Amino acid sequence: MASTIVSVVGGRAVKGDGEAGGAPAGTLTSVNPSRLTDQVAEVTLASAGTFAAACAAAKRAQPAWADVPAPVRGRAITAMGRIVEANKEALARLVTRELGKPYAEALGEVQEIIDTCDFFLGEGRRLYGQTVPSEMPDKQLFTFRVPVGSVAVVTAGNFPVAVPSWYLVPALVTGNTVVWKPAEYAAASAMALFELLQAAGLPEGVLNIVLADGAATFAGLEQALQAGTLDKIGFTGSTAVGARIGELAGRHLQSPCLELGGKNPMVITPSADLELAVEGALFSGFGTAGQRCTSLGTVIVHESVHDEFLAQFGAAVSAAAVGDPAQDVVYGPMLDQKFATRFEEYLGWIQPHHKILGSTGVGRVSAANPREGFVGDPEAGLFYHPVIVDGVQAGDALFRQETFGPIVGVMTYARLAEAIELANAPGYGLSSSIYTDDPREAFQFRRGVSAGMVSVNNSTSGAEAHLPFGGNGKSGNGSRQSGIWVLDQFTRWQAMNWDYSGRLQKAQMDVAELTADLDFRLTT
Ligand code: UN1
Repeated sequence: MASTIVSVVGGRAVKGDGEAGGAPAGTLTSVNPSRLTDQVAEVTLASAGTFAAACAAAKRAQPAWADVPAPVRGRAITAMGRIVEANKEALARLVTRELGKPYAEALGEVQEIIDTCDFFLGEGRRLYGQTVPSEMPDKQLFTFRVPVGSVAVVTAGNFPVAVPSWYLVPALVTGNTVVWKPAEYAAASAMALFELLQAAGLPEGVLNIVLADGAATFAGLEQALQAGTLDKIGFTGSTAVGARIGELAGRHLQSPCLELGGKNPMVITPSADLELAVEGALFSGFGTAGQRCTSLGTVIVHESVHDEFLAQFGAAVSAAAVGDPAQDVVYGPMLDQKFATRFEEYLGWIQPHHKILGSTGVGRVSAANPREGFVGDPEAGLFYHPVIVDGVQAGDALFRQETFGPIVGVMTYARLAEAIELANAPGYGLSSSIYTDDPREAFQFRRGVSAGMVSVNNSTSGAEAHLPFGGNGKSGNGSRQSGIWVLDQFTRWQAMNWDYSGRLQKAQMDVAELTADLDFRLTT
């Protein structure tokens, strides 16, 4: 039986009309994408009014939460990590069921929440400011990190619990309150994480969850910004929606934290270990069915090793286990019907000058369009053939646009400078990778590539939870998540000066000067 999932605002379930200020805006069913007959949850969608009411509730709860001493808030993060760890398998099973992520990857996803808690639990006892010397006597300068206020976090379903934790955990430990709007098609996984975090003892209204569609969310954000009950937006999703959110936030003089799409390049140089590169390309191109924002977009391979790489890559992808995510597979289904539909559009971008490799068909796997070695029943879910497209050119849509799904382009280069130019050409800038044995090439690539993240002899995916995560260009506005860097998203620096001299000492004017002899030279 599918569970029913409703928004929770100020500690209260929003079930009916008028509750929390808004009527429900319809329902949807979250289904298991690897077994479409399996209904995971019935979701009651909230209206824009409910979203705005949640922001108001978060805003009301924020001063009291900020008054909870940071080390005590840190203890809540400790508890969250332990509670999630104790429920690791159950949450991972739900992620596999609702999103079709292979179980091993789902376990890794839950581990990423635990890692994030491990990192931030100490921040409650740190949250350092500085003491700074003044240019005048009997005066002291200080800096403090202060919470931003109430935060809306809008997340995608490809990492339905890990990526949300990258926002929720640091936002909460630094004294903000949160309205979380997860992807509707990931509602059950999101609600499970919400309950696990809530079990750490958060006071009512500190963490709220709202299930809403995109239009209601956008309108709710707008209402809350106008009402002054929303101080920060964090958003993970498409470049197009990110641009709209940036525009909306900008009108209210806010800079959102944006984590958007990618067209992540992998450069393979003549000195590369090809076997390692093939393994990396398989994992980052086809893991999570290519639906990570760090997924490999285009392999840019040196012309001297192109044929050998392509032969090995084609063989590896052809042999990869695809199918039932509860079994040992490289990837399972598309996350949701909307991604399957969009992926079919991307397949339409394949042109006659392209050469296709990697499977026994293209498109949806079925009895009529079988994939050799498919694991399980292909017709039960949203399963797609992996596609390698060789001969990609710089003008192709397949080269320029993100293609969320199991498809990887391959093209060649002659000089490294050309490879770097191609790596940057689509205008995204999230993740990137180079396979080389030559340190000069590695550093030349690092300097030239526009991506926020660079891997050397590693795939484009697999970021660790304590390094800055984020992108440039069409991948984001320069904001960074994870580690100490995300603290700048959820806190503002407050500068304090305290003059205890008993007189007005004017900065820059009443400053003592030592007499220096600038003409002094050594005589030897
Ligand atoms: C994302 O796709 O939104 O680096 C995040 C990785 C994961 C996180 C991806 N740890 O692939």
